[in-house]
Amino acid sequence: MKKYIVIGNPIEHSLSPKIHNFWLKKNKILAEYEKKKLTDVELKDFVLGVKKKEIDGANVTVPFKQKIIPLLDRLSLEAEQTQSVNTLYLNNNEIIGHNTDIIGFERGIKDTKFEISNKKIFILGAGGVVPSIIFSLNKMKASKISVSNRTQDKVLNLKNLFENIVIVDWGVVPEFDMVINATSVGLKDDQKLDLDFSKIGKGKFFYDVIYNPKETNFLKIGKKLGNQTENGKKMFIYQAAEAFKIWHNVQPEINNEVIKLIE
Ligand code: ATR
Repeated sequence: MKKYIVIGNPIEHSLSPKIHNFWLKKNKILAEYEKKKLTDVELKDFVLGVKKKEIDGANVTVPFKQKIIPLLDRLSLEAEQTQSVNTLYLNNNEIIGHNTDIIGFERGIKDTKFEISNKKIFILGAGGVVPSIIFSLNKMKASKISVSNRTQDKVLNLKNLFENIVIVDWGVVPEFDMVINATSVGLKDDQKLDLDFSKIGKGKFFYDVIYNPKETNFLKIGKKLGNQTENGKKMFIYQAAEAFKIWHNVQPEINNEVIKLIE
């Protein structure tokens, strides 16, 4: 039986196995998808396992999306330009690192009908998923991308990857059409970002990468101020769907049943 794995640390809460195993069953593909918690030192052996075909494909999540890169044979253009890998597959005995978060974000946004082109985007946070979001926003022709992070290190690394971003001091809220929470603030129900959105006006788009809880304080504030809101559920489902397509050459169906799996 073919074997697929998502690796990360922590990994207990990953919903990838649920969604992939659902699609495997639906498409009558004889394979299993599991989650595995790894430490940094175990990463090399894990990649060797893929090379030896003990594992047929893998998803990679925090904190390994960048750390895994030196261990791979080749990167797709998307993985190279974001220095972020979330999907591994074998091609002619080479381990390829790819990034499906980019297409996940793009398709998720398309579903909301919000038009990114010529819009000013403000991103909060500079963690693992942000390079993929910036890549997507550039592809969709955002006119300006401002990024603000609590601390400086990660945001300066981002500036090296994407020269066009504007770094904004933490606490400052610039003019924007869409604001994205890509920090981990809100994963626990009572957490609040210490930012003042009261002067931004209406008709903006508040997007949170977090989908559990469904509505973070950030989204609640956005809604209360009269703005469109969306969480990261679709992004998560679409990134999974693209990995599934790469491994099994089948485009999995995204319906209410699938959406309910992760609620
Ligand atoms: P990683 O940094 O390992 O990729 P992540 O969950 O993708 O993990 O990123 C966490 C993001 O949330 C970071 O941008 C982090 O800011 P720092 O780089 O300053 O740590 C941000 N974050 C976490 N807690 C926060 C808080 N209380 N206020 C503001 N930002 C916070």
